[in-house]
Amino acid sequence: MTDNKPVQIRMSDYPGKGNARNIWRITHDPLRSIEEGEVLVRLDYISIDPGMRGWITNKRSYMPPVKPGGVMRAFGMGEVLESRATGLAVGDQVTGFTGVQTHGVFKQESLRKIGLPGVSPHMFLSGLGMTGYTGYFGMTDIGQPQDGETVVVSAASGAVGSVAAQAAKLAGARVIGIAGGSDKCGYLTDELGLDAAIDYKNDDINAALSANCPDGIDLYFDNVGGDILSAVLNQMNYKGRIVVCGGISQYDDFASAAGPANFMTVVTHSLTMRGFTMRDYMHRVPEALEWLVPAWTEGRIKFREHIVEGIENFPDAFDMVFEGKNHGKLLLKIG
Ligand SMILES: NC(=O)c1ccc[n+]([C@@H]2O[C@H](COP(=O)([O-])OP(=O)(O)OC[C@H]3O[C@@H](n4cnc5c(N)ncnc54)[C@H](OP(=O)(O)O)[C@@H]3O)[C@@H](O)[C@H]2O)c1
Repeated sequence: MTDNKPVQIRMSDYPGKGNARNIWRITHDPLRSIEEGEVLVRLDYISIDPGMRGWITNKRSYMPPVKPGGVMRAFGMGEVLESRATGLAVGDQVTGFTGVQTHGVFKQESLRKIGLPGVSPHMFLSGLGMTGYTGYFGMTDIGQPQDGETVVVSAASGAVGSVAAQAAKLAGARVIGIAGGSDKCGYLTDELGLDAAIDYKNDDINAALSANCPDGIDLYFDNVGGDILSAVLNQMNYKGRIVVCGGISQYDDFASAAGPANFMTVVTHSLTMRGFTMRDYMHRVPEALEWLVPAWTEGRIKFREHIVEGIENFPDAFDMVFEGKNHGKLLLKIG
């Protein structure tokens, strides 16, 4: 809250290419009273996700876009301040689609109670949250890396990519991460223990893939699409697999997004490409936590967070993921 008034970030209209910057409006609408089965929540953290660019694009997708004038959709976590719901009490920590706002009134079934002793609740928006589950299920359930295989992950130092890359490493694969800049690449090899890192902003991606994948690529976890997907396709092995998790390089202009010119490699090399969203796996979240929590507490995987403070800084934070200015799961601290 600013000056004790609730604050909301609203989308005024669908942005065109390159102008998502101009669509955000701050409002101070009062909250309505809670009804039976509802809770009032004070939001503490909001998750900033590349997928938000799809939510403000007026096109067919896995969920309807945000309506012009509506509060911007976001995952968030916070604390219950008032409750008329049997399953949630004052003081409970919760997560769900809360929107970008300081406070909200929610039906209890739209929220999930969170908490683990000794774990900061905002971890349930990062490594132990949606991006952690995405990296885990995408890599282990769809990709299924095998001992000794060569696995390539793009946006590898980010929230999803870092979990996917570490899951493949723990499965015994040789893992090459792709990221922008020497700092992120150093993090991949020195901190996360990947076998090699490719700086797509400064290296020749085709030459670097050849040098680092002398036996070809068995499995590619794609977060970016575009030119990097094309470069990887050129070096996929016969019957290789591609997990299509995202395509961030294409999100600013869905209307002219282009498929790879060498797409026929899927045919000539008998590749399997499979896309997914976390929606497919929501019923299996406990399974992800069973793997992620001990792997993290025992130091077998690392999570990195990047925290921006202040709801008024949402527009800057939103831009950061598309400019590569975040390093780790990007969170907006509200409270
Ligand atoms: N399928 C699902 O259910 C699901 C769920 C969550 C996320 N995702 C997808 O997973 C991907 C990663 O999301 P995240 O939350 O983990 O974000 P993140 O990786 O933490 O942050 C985004 C990163 O993407 C990289 N990037 C931005 N523009 C790029 C471009 N044009 N080409 C190559 N890399 C670019 C930047 O890193 P560099 O500095 O390395 O360029 C940036 O830091 C996104 O595509 C997202 O949509 C999918």
